[in-house]
Amino acid sequence: MRKKEQPLLVDRFQRRLSYLRVSVTDRCNLRCRYCMPPGGVPKLAHPDILAYEEIRRVIQAASSLGMNKIRLTGGEPLVRKGMVDFIRQLAELPAPLDVRMTTNGLLLADKARDLAAAGLRRVNISLDSLDSRTYEYITGLDVLPQVWRGIQTALDAGFDRIKLNCVAMKGVNDHELERFAQLSREYPLEVRFIEFMPMGQVDFWSRDRFLSAEEIQRRIEGLDRLEAVPREGDEGPARVFRLPGALGTLGFISPVSNHFCGACNRLRLTAEGKIRVCLLSDREVDIKDALRAGAGPEELAGLLRRAAAAKPQNHLLRQAETPRRAMHSIGG
Ligand code: 5AD
Ligand code: SF4
Repeated sequence: MRKKEQPLLVDRFQRRLSYLRVSVTDRCNLRCRYCMPPGGVPKLAHPDILAYEEIRRVIQAASSLGMNKIRLTGGEPLVRKGMVDFIRQLAELPAPLDVRMTTNGLLLADKARDLAAAGLRRVNISLDSLDSRTYEYITGLDVLPQVWRGIQTALDAGFDRIKLNCVAMKGVNDHELERFAQLSREYPLEVRFIEFMPMGQVDFWSRDRFLSAEEIQRRIEGLDRLEAVPREGDEGPARVFRLPGALGTLGFISPVSNHFCGACNRLRLTAEGKIRVCLLSDREVDIKDALRAGAGPEELAGLLRRAAAAKPQNHLLRQAETPRRAMHSIGG
């Protein structure tokens, strides 16, 4: 129950923060070119990453400040053992939380039903190609059929919503944009096209590979008329449309060409226990030391407030400032 005396979390720009993204591991069972540096990454040692019990304490403190949307990310969250039990614990906390996950889908064929039964409400599945060769080129593994089975299982598992996230890259997967859009006709999926962002430690990004959300949308408009889907308030950064008669929808996300910082409602917790104030800024507030020194809910809430106060108004990607951390250690 949110105690009345705990005011909601609002930053210096009057943005109300209601959404905590939690990276539960920096490890992943794929090697996406745009995410992992080619030489691999030094893995965090087990004692360096937060225990589930520590993550739960942060989530409870966040929820006392009105952050009730929690997204579990990675690396790949499903490679961490005990994920289903952890979700059940979150679902059983006294304050109601809306728990979601971003996954690459590789383990969903096995786990989707248990995750839904444990209380996971929504999943976002990263999928950048529908062609086996291209999928392998991007992710390093020839496992598209397994991911597709995962998506099918998720569709049957009873989640509230399922989104497919496709990072659009010119010369890599842009020949498939229309095929992705067609998926939304047949399946009740929100297929979202995301602009390719330059991120730390990886040099796969280039101007030549970049496609703006506007260009992507124009391509899809070549298929058919796009009907705008009205959004209900606090719905995230995508602009959403529907192809006539489609079961699902199409979303366009433009972090680079047209940032949506003004509506940003989130903080991030990294696997090693830093609160990251913006995906695209390296400002972080450590919370691990406090957790390990036995901090109670008030003290943890204080650190979340300090992080909120450090949120920048905008990111500076267009001024060619790129964050140092690679995506696998932030979780998107
Ligand atoms: N640009 C855009 N999206 C990215 N993701 C990872 N790296 C990038 C990038 N450079 C996406 C993944 C996944 C989510 C966690 O972040 O595809 O959908
Ligand atoms: Fe793994 Fe996601 Fe990074 Fe791909 S983008 S390597 S699936 S963490």
